Amino acid sequence: MSDLKKKKLTIVQLIQKKADKQKVTMVTAYDYSAAILAEKAGIDTILVGDSLGMVVLGYESTAPVTMNEMIYHGKIVRRGAPSTFLIVDMPFMSYQVSISNAIANAGRIMKQTECECVKIEGGTEMVPVINAIVKAGIPVCFHIGLTPQTATKLSGFKVQGKDAGSAKELIRAAKEAEDAGACMVVIECVPDIVGKRITQEVSIPTIGIGAGKECDGQVLVYHDLLGLFDRFTPKFVKRYADLGTIAYEALSAYKREVEAGIFPGAEYSFKMNHEEEKNI
Ligand code: KIV
Repeated sequence: MSDLKKKKLTIVQLIQKKADKQKVTMVTAYDYSAAILAEKAGIDTILVGDSLGMVVLGYESTAPVTMNEMIYHGKIVRRGAPSTFLIVDMPFMSYQVSISNAIANAGRIMKQTECECVKIEGGTEMVPVINAIVKAGIPVCFHIGLTPQTATKLSGFKVQGKDAGSAKELIRAAKEAEDAGACMVVIECVPDIVGKRITQEVSIPTIGIGAGKECDGQVLVYHDLLGLFDRFTPKFVKRYADLGTIAYEALSAYKREVEAGIFPGAEYSFKMNHEEEKNI
């Protein structure tokens, strides 16, 4: 772990990283201790993703996540990672109803969580929304490809942009988002050639998740990376640790020791002076 106090990156520095061919790192976080660890590890950007709904809140999808839930977790992560560029997801239906509603919700997220940027999902239909939020002074990261909030419309969690027509549509969405003022593009679950082509076509950083190694950076869900969630593991997830098994074994050992009267032993207990003991 690096103990060096780092300076929060700016959007200009993130764009410069792309120009300098330096990779951008991103991980999701939803709570204080995860945020502290991500910041200590020197991760460039933290995303309070609405994957929160599935890995922390126990929903079946990201669709039920509310504004209040995103703001609650965004504030917690901000406290744990005050020096890391923070992105907070706008939840489903918080930016689709109208442009003025999208601006108001983006503003509420930014004011209350003190994040640097909000993220919205979609395709070219979202370009006017990006434009309006950015014009209101709020940086936007755009999420294209597999967009979990509308996974039902996409007929499930499937690779996107597999034919030339849909790949070109994704490239167009990324370029139009850049023109509308987006500062970053997350590309999820597309063939690596599509990730590469989008990366070549825009000058803002592309952050891949299942989009190949040619993207300017990578993002993974904290619980996937650490092996804390095994209900659903996409092919693009690399598990860097198996904390789920370690936690399970620790909990089982604790249960065994309590039931057998082993825990707490003398080393975990407090003693009273003998004289006082006699007078109880
Ligand atoms: O919600 C999330 O965690 C995300 C990432 C998968 C990019 O959008």
